Amino acid sequence: MPAPLLVPSLLASDHADLAAGARLAGSLGLPWVHVDIMDGHFVPNLTFGPQTVAALRRRDAAQFLDVHLMLDAPQKFIEAFAKAGASLITVHTEPPHDIAATLARVRALGCQCGLALNPGTPAEAAEPFLAQVDLVLAMTVQPGFGGQSFRRDVLPKISQLAAWRRERGLKFRLEVDGGVDLVTGPECRAAGADTFVMGTAFFGAKDPAAVARATAAW
Ligand code: DX5
Ligand code: ZN
Repeated sequence: MPAPLLVPSLLASDHADLAAGARLAGSLGLPWVHVDIMDGHFVPNLTFGPQTVAALRRRDAAQFLDVHLMLDAPQKFIEAFAKAGASLITVHTEPPHDIAATLARVRALGCQCGLALNPGTPAEAAEPFLAQVDLVLAMTVQPGFGGQSFRRDVLPKISQLAAWRRERGLKFRLEVDGGVDLVTGPECRAAGADTFVMGTAFFGAKDPAAVARATAAW
């Protein structure tokens, strides 16, 4: 299992100064930041677009931009986010698109690819694609908003995905997103997760450096 990786989610940072949030992550030795893209259809909220990703990329050529597409038609926007400088693009299993083709397109455009599951979507929805992805994202809240409560009922799905990874000798990262904090993160770690998106519990913390230190020990 890879070492634990804390991934601050810019959704919980100051949207008028996203670069400051991204810099804070970098200054604490955290190489990834998570960028939530919402379209008001797949989820009932709006956030950022390709121009936001491009602007973050201009500020830091090296930062790993983990772009989470919560879109009804992700295949239409892959190219724009890849050109904007995304490092990894995650699409959901739930909207109607040819998942294998979308993932292949992400890779052909030079990005790593990820596949996300809503809390109510079974692990089996991702199973046919596990050998094709760099990351599987198990949502631990219903996507759309930061600051929601962690869903413990997702833990068995994380264990199942981790078991498949082990048994099949696969290498994908297992990421969790939603309600992750210093209590729920270790529960995800025990279930087999290695990549921890954290919005509120990181940017809302009095001492984000202490959060980063604590996470490194999970
Ligand atoms: C929710 C987003 C998350 C969000 C998590 O739909 O996908 O990435 O930023 O925020 P917290 O950590 O506050 O639950
Ligand atoms: Zn997210």
